[in-house]
Amino acid sequence: MRLVLLGPPGVGKGTQGRRLAAQHSWALISTGEILRDAVARQTPLGLEARKRMDNGLLVPDDVMIGLVRDRSAEEDAADGFVLDGFPRTVPQANALDSMLQSRGQRLDAAVGLDAPQEELVRRLSARRECPVCKRAYNMITAPPKNDQECDDHPGTVLTQREDDKEATVRRRLEVYENQTAPLLDYYRGQGRLRMVPATGAVDDVYHSLSQALGC
Ligand code: AP5
Repeated sequence: MRLVLLGPPGVGKGTQGRRLAAQHSWALISTGEILRDAVARQTPLGLEARKRMDNGLLVPDDVMIGLVRDRSAEEDAADGFVLDGFPRTVPQANALDSMLQSRGQRLDAAVGLDAPQEELVRRLSARRECPVCKRAYNMITAPPKNDQECDDHPGTVLTQREDDKEATVRRRLEVYENQTAPLLDYYRGQGRLRMVPATGAVDDVYHSLSQALGC
C-alpha cells in the first residue's frame, strides 16, 4: 500500500506511521527525520534546511520533491510506503502524483489525522526522543521507565527538538493551516481521503486507522 499521513504537528503521524510500517513491512518515509538526520550530519541539505526548520517554516518544494523522489525509489519501498510529512503543499502533492504515475503506480490512500490545537501544543511540549534510535516519548503520556533515559539505550539521555518550543510550535501550526490543510480538499477531491480522529490513546487511534485502511 502507498499511503500519505496528513495532519498538524503533534497529531501522531510519526507514532502511527512507524507502527503501520513495522506491522506491514512498508517503508516509512519521514521527511522530518530525513532532514533532522541531514542537520545532525551537517550535510549541504542539513545546512540549508536547519534555519527554516528551527523557525517552523517549510523547506523549499524542489528540495523536498527531489528527496522523496530518490527515497521512494529505494528497494525497501517497492512493495509499499507510508509518507509522514510529505506532501505538505499543493505543488508537492502534484509532484507526488506525477512521480507515481511515471512509475506506473498510484497512491492508495491519504489519511487525515485530527486533534484539537491545545492538545497538540501539550503533546509537543512534552515530547522527547532518543538521539540513538529516534524512539519518541512523551513525558506526560508515555514517559521512559528511568527518568530521562531511553528504555532501549540505558545511559542515553532523551533530547527535545529545537522546533518543539512553544512559540515555534504555534508558528508550525499556522504554517500547517495555511499551506498543508488545503491538501485535505485536494485528496477529498480525488476520493482518497479518510479522516481519523487522533484524540484517543495511541492504541485506539491505531485501531481506527487500521479500520479506515481496511488492514
Ligand atoms: P516533521 O518532523 O514532519 O514535523 P511535524 O509535521 O510538525 O510533525 P511532528 O513530528 O511534530 O508530529 P507528529 O504528527 O509526527 O507527532 P508524533 O507522532 O511525533 O517536520 C519538521 C520540519 O521539517 C517542518 O517544520 C519543516 O521545516 C520540515 N519539513 C518536513 N517535511 C517537509 C516537507 N514535506 N516540506 C517542507 N518542509 C518539510 O507525536 C507527538 C507527541 O505526541 C509525541 O510525544 C507522542 O508520544 C505523543 N502522542 C502521539 N500520539 C498520541 C496520542 N494518541 N495520545 C497522546 N500522546 C500522543
